[in-house]
Amino acid sequence: MYKILKKEELATNIFWMTVEAPRVAQACLPGQFLIVRSHEDAERIPLTICDYDREAGTIAIVYQPIGHSTQRINLLNEGDCFHDVVGPLGRPSELCEMDEEELKKMKILFVAGGVGTAPVYPQLKWLHEHGVDADAVQGAKTKDIVILEDLMGSVAGNLYITTDDGSYGRSGMVTQAISDLVTKEGKHYDRVIAIGPMIMMKFVCKLTQELGIPTIVSMNTIMVDGTGMCGACRLTVGGEVKFACVDGPEFDGFQVDFDQAMRRSRIYKTEEGRKMLKELEGDTHHGGCGNCN
Ligand code: NAD
Ligand code: FES
Repeated sequence: MYKILKKEELATNIFWMTVEAPRVAQACLPGQFLIVRSHEDAERIPLTICDYDREAGTIAIVYQPIGHSTQRINLLNEGDCFHDVVGPLGRPSELCEMDEEELKKMKILFVAGGVGTAPVYPQLKWLHEHGVDADAVQGAKTKDIVILEDLMGSVAGNLYITTDDGSYGRSGMVTQAISDLVTKEGKHYDRVIAIGPMIMMKFVCKLTQELGIPTIVSMNTIMVDGTGMCGACRLTVGGEVKFACVDGPEFDGFQVDFDQAMRRSRIYKTEEGRKMLKELEGDTHHGGCGNCN
């Protein structure tokens, strides 16, 4: 079970794995995530589902081996097995619940930042399969780390690649491309869905608020255990405490307090910081394990 059928380095230190997981593949929808453990004694790592094939019984993940646990995942090769894979978890994208005829009338723009392209692809693919071709702006720092361009291009109506250094596609950050498309190139969008680094999602929301385009963001990036027990993904949305792993990962971007989420995420990285947050936040520190206090 959970055998790795394919492993590929998409760009320097960004990997794709196709994994045998028939029950997850049968049930998952775009926007949902998995918890994986590479070895019996490994930490649990939440990863978004980048692709799935119900017939073949496989799912695909994209990861960057940066921390200890993701480096252990990267020790696995084709033919090896994950110790366990739990999912699908989290709420599916709201697009999956919308009326298909309404969806077809909407003009949607996805904004994918760096590795955040991985969770954008299954949403674009799902829409494409349902007869809706949404546009996408995909940003990367430089040409060498643009990932999944062929797959994204095969399911997007229009795919606009941007690089911060101008080495490929449009020059500048994703916000520049959104602004140009809407204010100079006559594009109209009813909805933006932005997934990538928090700083990108913050500035995309600032811009789309000015442009009057409702925007959804995905807060996967702050999750740690993915089960509501660690308190890592606590954030404030519209003045209320929410947890990305239980209540999200997608939220109305105009309601998310990004500055607080970024500050908290930095504090959470140290043991001292985690203790401080636990004391400060009391009963609302965890996301609903039901076993506290
Ligand atoms: P990156 O830092 O290379 O940024 C990607 C693009 O985001 C840039 O090319 C730029 O166009 C845009 N961007 C960055 N800063 C911006 C700003 N200040 N204003 C406007 N646009 C800006 O991305 P990366 O190194 O691949 O990012 C990895 C991050 O993405 C990690 O923090 C990871 O946790 C996160 N991530 C998030 C999700 C999610 O669901 N939100 C999923 C996967 C990865
Ligand atoms: Fe731990 Fe959400 S990831 S509470």
